[in-house]
Amino acid sequence: MSILKIAKIGHPILSKKAKLVDKIPDSSLNNLVKDMSETMLEAEGVGLAAPQIHISKQIMIFRIPDNNELENDTIEVTALINPKIIISNEKTENQWEGCLSIPGMTGLVKRYSEIEYEGLDLNGKIIKKKVSGLHARIVQHEFDHLNGVMYTQRLVDPRAFGFAEEINKYWKDKNEKN
Ligand code: NI
Repeated sequence: MSILKIAKIGHPILSKKAKLVDKIPDSSLNNLVKDMSETMLEAEGVGLAAPQIHISKQIMIFRIPDNNELENDTIEVTALINPKIIISNEKTENQWEGCLSIPGMTGLVKRYSEIEYEGLDLNGKIIKKKVSGLHARIVQHEFDHLNGVMYTQRLVDPRAFGFAEEINKYWKDKNEKN
C-alpha cells in the first residue's frame, strides 16, 4: 500500500468529469481503493474521490469516524463506484465543510438533507441507500468531485469561506444555523 499525492485546488483534473469504471471486479481497482483509503486516513479525511489522487475515474470512498460531532453511527471506509444520486426531498441544510484538496480552509455549504444513492462496490454488487445528515453530505461532496465540482462553487455566501483557524474564531455558531 502507498500514500498517494493529493491534487490541490487549481489542478485541472479537479474540474473534469471523471470517466465511468467499466471493469469490476478488477484487482488493480482493489489496490487503488486500498491506496485511497490509506491516503484518506493518513490525511484524517472522511472522504476521497479518485480525481483528487489524479485519477479521473468514478470512484469515491468515505467513512464516518466515531469521533464526529454530528451523529453517532459510524461507517467504516466504503468504496462506491459509478455512483448516482437521487434527490428525494428538497430540504437543504448549511454546514461547514473542508476538503483534502483545499487544506486548512473551510466553507459553509448548502446540501440536500436527505438523498438516495446507488453505485457499485468492489465486487460489482449494487449498493443502494437512503441516507441523511453527515452521511448524505459526504456522499454529495465526493459525488461533486466526480463531476468536477468543488465545494467552493456551492458556498452559501462567498464570504463564508476562509482559513479554518479564522473561521473557527469569527464565524462559527453565529452563521451556521439558518
Ligand atoms: Ni473534497
